Amino acid sequence: MRSVIVALALSSATALVAPSMTHKTTALQAATKDPATTSYQPTEGANAAVDTNNKGDAWVSQMQRPRRNRKSAGVRSMVRENFLTPANLMQPIFIHEDSDQVVPIPSMPGQSRHTLDSMVEQVKKGMALGVKSFILFPKVPDDLKTNFADECYNPDGIVPRAVAMCKAACPEATICTDIALDPYSDQGHDGIVLDGKIVNDMTIEQLCKQAVCHARAGADFVGPSDMMDGRVGALRLALDAEGHTDVGIISYSAKYASAFYGPFRDALDSHPGFGDKKTYQQDPANGREAIIEATLDAAEGADMLMVKPGVPYLDVIRRIRDVVDLPIAAYHVSGEYAMIKAGAEKGWVDEKAIVLETLMCFRRAGADVILTYYATDAAQWMNDEGNVCL
Ligand code: PBG
Repeated sequence: MRSVIVALALSSATALVAPSMTHKTTALQAATKDPATTSYQPTEGANAAVDTNNKGDAWVSQMQRPRRNRKSAGVRSMVRENFLTPANLMQPIFIHEDSDQVVPIPSMPGQSRHTLDSMVEQVKKGMALGVKSFILFPKVPDDLKTNFADECYNPDGIVPRAVAMCKAACPEATICTDIALDPYSDQGHDGIVLDGKIVNDMTIEQLCKQAVCHARAGADFVGPSDMMDGRVGALRLALDAEGHTDVGIISYSAKYASAFYGPFRDALDSHPGFGDKKTYQQDPANGREAIIEATLDAAEGADMLMVKPGVPYLDVIRRIRDVVDLPIAAYHVSGEYAMIKAGAEKGWVDEKAIVLETLMCFRRAGADVILTYYATDAAQWMNDEGNVCL
């Protein structure tokens, strides 16, 4: 029944429009007879797309022309909304004591596992260029790794000694440490593993010892990257109880279970021993959940909130920026660094331009601080350009 009606409707429609169709076809044929002489003229006809001004030049009438504010470098710099300075950048430094060699990391060209002496040189180099903050990541020998990761609060361990050396050499440098068990865990997880599960509260007990150990060594900020529930409040209490009220907490609030951490885990030999980190790090599909994490961390006493990874999560930075007034740090992580390096090595992208653009985009999204392996290089490029506000 239905198809009959449709068929009828079609046939009557054809009958009705047939004459005008024929007319149009004829007109079109006439117009396209000689394309060279009858090409479309936007300034002609009753519906001209382009007008002409008093001088007879093409004119698309409009009052607002946003391009006026982009017409020269001077005007662009006058109306620029965001700025990037070396002081916004934090340089991660990998450290080790496996040998007295600086060992390059193959999946992160340009980055190395530093000895403590070369670490100090890196801090001095960064400071000279205006990068004022650094975060240390240790590679720990296998024989020191255990499930309870007790090496993480050894006062003679690599991190507390490294912190003390940095502060002795450059007292003005802001030295941050990573708070998590994974570099010290024989399970390769950020927490203690019992019955195949990463246990929350027992892990926090270890993290508190680790944070106090780093604070005693002189760390300015501790950065819990473990994603255990309630760790920020516990760390705040632990630090305060030991008199470290001025040691800050940069909380990795919205840290996602991401494939972008691969090269970092190569650098520290800290790949998960089994499974993945999805029971504690966030699901990349979730945005609202980041707000829950961020507001909890703020309420628990975090001084800054971090989003990680970086570029794929710019929306998360913006969402947190809109609801929390604490400074936000963005972590431009190892996989992001490796991808730019690979593209640049092939000559497919302009490394300097792409890096400076990427870092500015973090600022536009709402990040105050950017942790990036490019910090010192970017500061050098900014200094070269004279485009720097120290
Ligand atoms: C450890 C930690 C990781 C990173 C920073 N701290 C790895 C992980 O969670 O597995 C990743 C940083 C990067 O990829 O650059 N908790």
